[in-house]
Amino acid sequence: MKIAVCPGSFDPITLGHLDIIQRASLMFDKVIVAVLVNPGKNPSFTAEERLNMIKRAVADIPNVEAECFDGLLAEYVRLRKAHTIVKGLRAVTDFEYEFQMALINRKLNPEADTVFLTTSSQHMYLSSSMVKSIARFGGDISDFVPECICREISDRLSRQRNDE
Ligand code: PNS
Repeated sequence: MKIAVCPGSFDPITLGHLDIIQRASLMFDKVIVAVLVNPGKNPSFTAEERLNMIKRAVADIPNVEAECFDGLLAEYVRLRKAHTIVKGLRAVTDFEYEFQMALINRKLNPEADTVFLTTSSQHMYLSSSMVKSIARFGGDISDFVPECICREISDRLSRQRNDE
């Protein structure tokens, strides 16, 4: 069985992420979306909240699962018996960081390879941080995140701003 891992912080999952996950689901028998810790980021949603949103967003894709893991991606991939890490690339600016991560992950787990899917052009400018900025100021994010989680993100972030 060909298993791929789609890792990320998913804070929150966007339509850009979902596009990559959907396309990966056509290439592999099973895709596991893994919510991992990015030490360089301070998330707005807890890991459980992010996982819950992902589960709702991928509910209609039968060969996609999601879970959280607090550790190294290379270790997680080994644990899940996967041999491929799938990442999306939006622009050349993503490349240097992703290239370094791919090399490190292959050093840590030589049995796994990273493959990059090019973003669909309509999602090129999209990022979780952009979505959060728009939602905090009460903007419409319905073109950027899955419909089933749109309200939760807007409510939560606009409330957070009012509490500040
Ligand atoms: O969506 P992101 O924030 O770009 O995803 C980055 C993520 C979470 C995939 C990356 O930070 C990661 O793999 N974290 C787990 C720890 C790890 O394996 N680090 C790489 C070796 S230093």
